[in-house]
Amino acid sequence: MTIRLLPASLVNRIAAGEVVERPASAVKELVENSIDAGASRIDIAIRDGGKSLISVSDDGSGMTGDDLRLAIERHATSKLSDGDLFDIHTMGFRGEALPSLGAVSRMVIASRVAGADSAWTIAVTGGAVSEPAPAAHPRGTRVEIRDLFYATPARLKFLKGDRTETTQILDVVKRLAMARPDIAFTLHDGARERLRLDAAQGDLLDARLTRLGAVMGREFADNALAIDAVREGIALTGYAGLPTLNRANAMQQYLFVNGRPVRDKLLYGAVRGAYMDFLARNRHPMVALFLDIDAREVDVNVHPAKAEVRFRDAGVVRGLVVGALKHALAEAGHRASTTVATAALGAIRSGGFALPLGGAGGGGHGGRAPAPGLAARAAAFQTPFAGAPGIPPSAAPAAPMGGVGDQEIPGDGYPLGAARAQLHETYIVAQTADGIVIVDQHAAHERLVYERMKAALAQSGVARQALLIPEVVELDEAAASRLLARADEFAELGLTIEAFGEGAVLVREVPALLGQVDAAGLIRDLADELAAFGAAFSLKEKLESVCGTMACHGSVRAGRRLNGDEMNALLREMEATPHSGQCNHGRPTFVELKLADIERLFGRR
Ligand SMILES: Nc1ncnc2c1ncn2[C@@H]1O[C@H](COP(=O)(O)OP(=O)(O)OP(=O)(O)O)[C@@H](O)[C@H]1O
Ligand SMILES: [Mg+2]
Repeated sequence: MTIRLLPASLVNRIAAGEVVERPASAVKELVENSIDAGASRIDIAIRDGGKSLISVSDDGSGMTGDDLRLAIERHATSKLSDGDLFDIHTMGFRGEALPSLGAVSRMVIASRVAGADSAWTIAVTGGAVSEPAPAAHPRGTRVEIRDLFYATPARLKFLKGDRTETTQILDVVKRLAMARPDIAFTLHDGARERLRLDAAQGDLLDARLTRLGAVMGREFADNALAIDAVREGIALTGYAGLPTLNRANAMQQYLFVNGRPVRDKLLYGAVRGAYMDFLARNRHPMVALFLDIDAREVDVNVHPAKAEVRFRDAGVVRGLVVGALKHALAEAGHRASTTVATAALGAIRSGGFALPLGGAGGGGHGGRAPAPGLAARAAAFQTPFAGAPGIPPSAAPAAPMGGVGDQEIPGDGYPLGAARAQLHETYIVAQTADGIVIVDQHAAHERLVYERMKAALAQSGVARQALLIPEVVELDEAAASRLLARADEFAELGLTIEAFGEGAVLVREVPALLGQVDAAGLIRDLADELAAFGAAFSLKEKLESVCGTMACHGSVRAGRRLNGDEMNALLREMEATPHSGQCNHGRPTFVELKLADIERLFGRR
């Protein structure tokens, strides 16, 4: 076998295999080039998911005919002026995107620099380069890529349907746009405009929030906490969604390092860690976080698509992210996401309350016939008498009200107000200065127990209480041994367990905080939790999760009747407790409806 140098066209195709995975990667490279060229607007057009056409136009610096000839050469870049790979301030730096794209598609570039007599164009077809020729084009650059991967049919086969590829392209453009609110973006897919983002005005932070709202939705902008923290010269800014605004996957987590969108495991892990306390394991927060760090402290040349980075001091970065997010979430106190109230109002609007009263069976809104019984139930709400037909007994004021009705309405000092009633043995209704609050007593209590448990652990350790009769819990062999392997660690948390024959454990003591507890349920849930964690961790690390599970078992279950004092005590404790706006699973613990909203509901405003 003889060793020989590969021809340039082949080398470029090999490089394209790494850099250009799919149409979205091509869009990413082109838009990054436009950003680097100082564009103030970038217009993107695609056809068939980018497979038949990708066109990116900008109003940036442009290129001369000679520039064009070089730009499509491999390893030709204007961006590494002093050749320092560790001081990178541009999106690009390798000088391989254009030649790679030209090697696997039919590419035409037209460009003009400010003040030039003429624009220039150059074409690269499957790696074959034309001579630059004069052309007509305004200042800036347009790169058109047709028939991506026509020269590498194998890659073509791996592409997904047009819809999926378009979604990927949208995602790429959105990510890039989030970091640069000063640049206007449009994206047209041939049939319709998919994205239009005007250049946002104002200082960076205002502009950024406007842009984030435009990309991630108003809901995010309304329910996000501003993040602004610095540690050892590294700055973290951006916005973190309240835990109650959560999603089933991490797609809505946008992370940037020096303005570059990244999908970095370290950063995702830090976000997960910061929210672990507030969200069930299968729920994910929405965040947009921007890390600004000395270019020398981070290596961006570790991933073919530059989607990952490596930090010199990963520990500091992680600490900064976790610390800043936790701090912001603690500051947010018991504020629950406004989406909850909005959703509640929406539900009420479309529910039975809006039906015409009296005329059972009459046409409802929009001609919709009311569900049987709804009108009657709505009518019953009008009657002042408890126990009127149609009212379940628990909807009447809680029997022993303990003077709840007469309590002064607390002012500003008590944002959760005075308890007025308990409904369905589950919900506490309280009156505030300017609205009403509905508390889910189970969720709220669970949160309080959890926070108390954490506080107790931090101070002295958890007080334990011996069960009168130790309880035997039957499990399977594996679950039992997993639990027993951790017996010492559980003991520190106030839970004492022992082996009890094959596949069973004996519970002797439980954390006193939990009060009356279903030991079997608790043990089974902990066993599930251990199984999910995997082996390599210490319970200390997972402490919060374990505490959360325990708290859930020790909480006032829905269905317990509370008297007025108990209800008010719960409200006061919620006010005094950090993070009390959501339970450990990210569900809200209360909803607040402002009088103004309620008035609107009844058409009074
Ligand atoms: N839209 C544009 N406007 C002005 N100049 C451009 C544009 N696109 C590319 N160029 C010029 O062409 C050069 C080559 O672009 P290319 O994308 O291949 O490499 P790069 O951006 O330098 O590095 P990388 O491969 O990391 O993206 C750039 O360095 C830049 O000088
Ligand atoms: Mg580039």
